[in-house]
Amino acid sequence: MARRIPTAVLISGQGSNLQALIEAARSSEFPAVIALVISNRPDAYGIVRATDAGIPVQVLDHTQYASREAFDAALDDILVAHGIELVCLAGFMRILSDGFVGEWSGRLVNIHPSLLPAYKGLNTHARVLEAGEKQHGATVHWVTSELDSGAIIAQEAFDLVATDTVETLQARTGEVERRLYPAALQKVAAAL
Ligand code: GAR
Repeated sequence: MARRIPTAVLISGQGSNLQALIEAARSSEFPAVIALVISNRPDAYGIVRATDAGIPVQVLDHTQYASREAFDAALDDILVAHGIELVCLAGFMRILSDGFVGEWSGRLVNIHPSLLPAYKGLNTHARVLEAGEKQHGATVHWVTSELDSGAIIAQEAFDLVATDTVETLQARTGEVERRLYPAALQKVAAAL
């Protein structure tokens, strides 16, 4: 079979998307290998998930860097040192500098909890409820220098129900994400 693309997953928190990617990539038929997990937060639960799966983890604590550019340069060094060719942001709650995004253009994807281009940014579930939307969902997209605005790779919607709350929307969106992100990574890695 074709070469499997060495892929890094960047996280800041729970890592449920990371888990879904790890599970998908366990198959030798999957076109990407999760070769490295990087967390900018030393306490992210996703670190435990990666360690349990035997995947190398690097903690890159952003509070230890003087500037965004210095952090991103360290990030780039680690990715290059590990031979990474594709980067998946999975709940990585930091804005990346234009220089980094340019360097990784075409090799940097993100998952966002809304039906982009609607509801870029934070607190998407609360904003969707507040606006009385009929649908919500998740999007996997290429990362560009404009936040949550790159070309869409995959998107899946669901209908809201009257009883939905921020918590149910978070759970329902998460369920979509755990299906959507592995499928999107498969598509992207197979095309590299
Ligand atoms: C996910 O819902 C992801 O879409 C979102 O954070 C959550 C991370 O969950 N990402 C963003 O909001 C990016 N701006 P996880 O750590 O359990 O995968």
